[in-house]
Order: sequence, then structure tokens, then C-alpha cells
Amino acid sequence: MTTDEGWRQDDDGQIADSGVLEVSGQRRTVAVLGAGTMGSGIATVMVRAGHRTLLYDVAETGLARGIETVNGFLDKSARLGKLTADEAAAAKSLLVGTTDLGDLAPSDVVVEAVWEDLALKKEVFGQLDDVVPERTLFHTNTSTLSVTGVASGSRLAERVVGTHYCNPAPLMKLVEVANGRHTASWATRATLEFLSSLGKTSVITKDRPGFIVNRFLIPWENSCIDALEAGLGTVESIDAAVPGSIGHPMGPFRLLDIVGLDIHQQVATRLYEQLRDPRFFPPPMVDRMVAAGDLGRKTGRGFYDYDDTSLFGS
Ligand SMILES: NC(=O)c1ccc[n+]([C@@H]2O[C@H](COP(=O)([O-])OP(=O)(O)OC[C@H]3O[C@@H](n4cnc5c(N)ncnc54)[C@H](O)[C@@H]3O)[C@@H](O)[C@H]2O)c1
Repeated sequence: MTTDEGWRQDDDGQIADSGVLEVSGQRRTVAVLGAGTMGSGIATVMVRAGHRTLLYDVAETGLARGIETVNGFLDKSARLGKLTADEAAAAKSLLVGTTDLGDLAPSDVVVEAVWEDLALKKEVFGQLDDVVPERTLFHTNTSTLSVTGVASGSRLAERVVGTHYCNPAPLMKLVEVANGRHTASWATRATLEFLSSLGKTSVITKDRPGFIVNRFLIPWENSCIDALEAGLGTVESIDAAVPGSIGHPMGPFRLLDIVGLDIHQQVATRLYEQLRDPRFFPPPMVDRMVAAGDLGRKTGRGFYDYDDTSLFGS
């Protein structure tokens, strides 16, 4: 099967018994929209899996930083012995950066990771309808918006699937998968196969605010910030208490610094607005940190200070 044959053909049974939706090991062309925290992480996942990856951003500076993040992660992986130098070089060679939407025309899959703004996400999918073929799968990485709402930006809502990656995407195995109201079964099946070929574990959830993970992660992070504000421990001691107790490999403050305090504030506020559950409301410390520009690793200061502001450290 070549990359010219689409997921729909898969579903139509044209290659049925020889491997319906058998995507493992196949090289696809994947477009990643938005070269920020999630887009650069997802692009890293794609090149590591051997897919030609078109990383697109409207901002030249955002794109340059995203490419640097992908290459930095691969270099670090080689230094740590997780990849050979040749494997890292091969992965890097699969990444192409662009600010021209027209360059995304050959995409088999588009993974959208632009700002969390419904009108923007709809607009981007609508523009892409005119650029990519009908067979192209559209994945949205929204955290709080309705997949159905985002999908309504495309004339072919049946091809849109919610794929919510966990941050940092190259390290975290889980992707939550949520169908929109009009998502077709071929699109869901192809998505699950594709994610599996990336080495990801998928859980299927509903198109509801917060999916599964943010329903428990956001209140937990907020309660850790509350504990800090109440003086129950320091940033360091609360982080240190987590791996040896509830077994999370990373404490809440290291994680929040990677996520970005601005993103946490936005996600928590949106979930609070939709769920009306006070556990989601961001504690005042978050507002103060965002107002001060202490957004975490990306700005060099969050709960911790960082000399190195690259997403994964160099
Ligand atoms: N940060 C997290 O932990 C996390 C986790 C899961 C999902 N998400 C979701 O992922 C998405 C992206 O979040 P992020 O944290 O990577 O944000 P970010 O601010 O780091 O990056 C967003 C990028 O999108 C770019 N962009 C804006 N408009 C664009 C357009 N029209 N076309 C192309 N690029 C455009 C911006 O220039 C920026 O580089 C959001 O929907 C967010 O809710 C975030």
C-alpha cells in the first residue's frame, strides 16, 4: 500500500483481507499544525515513528522554536543512548517546517495543535479542506473544546477525530480518542491503528469537557497548589512526596512547569465554566504567576527556575 491509498479505501475493503487499516511500519505524511509545546512534541513522535512530518505554524519564530525542540529532543535521546546517532539523524531528516498551508497538500493525517480557540481550530480545518484530499484524516488535540464543534469547521466532519495527547507527547504513552457526533467508524478505526503504530496506548472516551485525564488531573494539580499556598509543604517537598506515595513519576510542579501555567489556567478555567465544579477553578497563585509571566520552563521561571528554556532540556 502506498501513501496515495487512503484510509477510506482501507475501510471500503479494497485491501480488506490483506490488512485492513494495517498501518504499522508504513510511512505516512503527517502534518502537525502549531509548533508549540504540543505540536513540537507530537512532531517528535511522528519522526521517531518514521513518518515524513510537515510542521506548520503561522509564526516564523514559533516554527523555528518548534523545529529546535524536535531536534533538541532527538539529540538528547542520542546522547542518553536511547537512539543511535544514525537513528536520530534519520528522524531529523523526516522533519520539514513550513508557514505555507499549501505545503500540507500531501498529508495523510493532519494533527491540529494550534491555540485552544474554537473559531481558530474550525477556521484551520476549513482552510485545510481546500488543500488536502478527502481521504486525509483530521485529528484535533483540543483539551477542552468539543470535538463536534471543531469538526464543524470541516465540510467532512466524518473524518475528524479527537486525539488528546498527554504532555510531554514524546514520553507519555497515552492518547485519549474521542469521536465527534459525525465521526465515521472508518476514521476512528484508522486513528486507533495509526496511534498503535506510533507505540501509543489509546483509550476511547466521550466528547465531553476534559475527556478522562483532565477530569482527575486538573483538580489534583489545583489541590497541590492549594497545599502549597496553605504551607503544607514546599514546591520541592510536595514534588518529592509524589513518586513515593501515589507513584506518579513526576510531581505536580515539575509537570505544571512543562505544561505551562498559562495553559493550566486556560484549561482549568474552561473546564470550570463548563462543569461548574469548583475543584477545576484555578487557585489564585496561578493567576499571580501568569500575570508575572512566570509560565514555567518556556519562560525560564515557574515553580522552579530554568537556565535552559527548551522544552525537554538540552
Ligand atoms: N500544553 C499542554 O499540556 C496540552 C496538553 C494536551 C493538549 N493541549 C492542547 O494542545 C493545543 C496546543 O497547545 P500548546 O500548549 O501546544 O500551545 P502553544 O501556545 O505552546 O502552541 C500553539 C502554537 O499554535 C500556533 N498557531 C496559532 N494559530 C495558528 C494557526 N492558525 N495555524 C498554525 N499554527 C498556529 C502558535 O503560533 C503556537 O506556536 C491546545 O488545543 C491545547 O489545549 C495542550
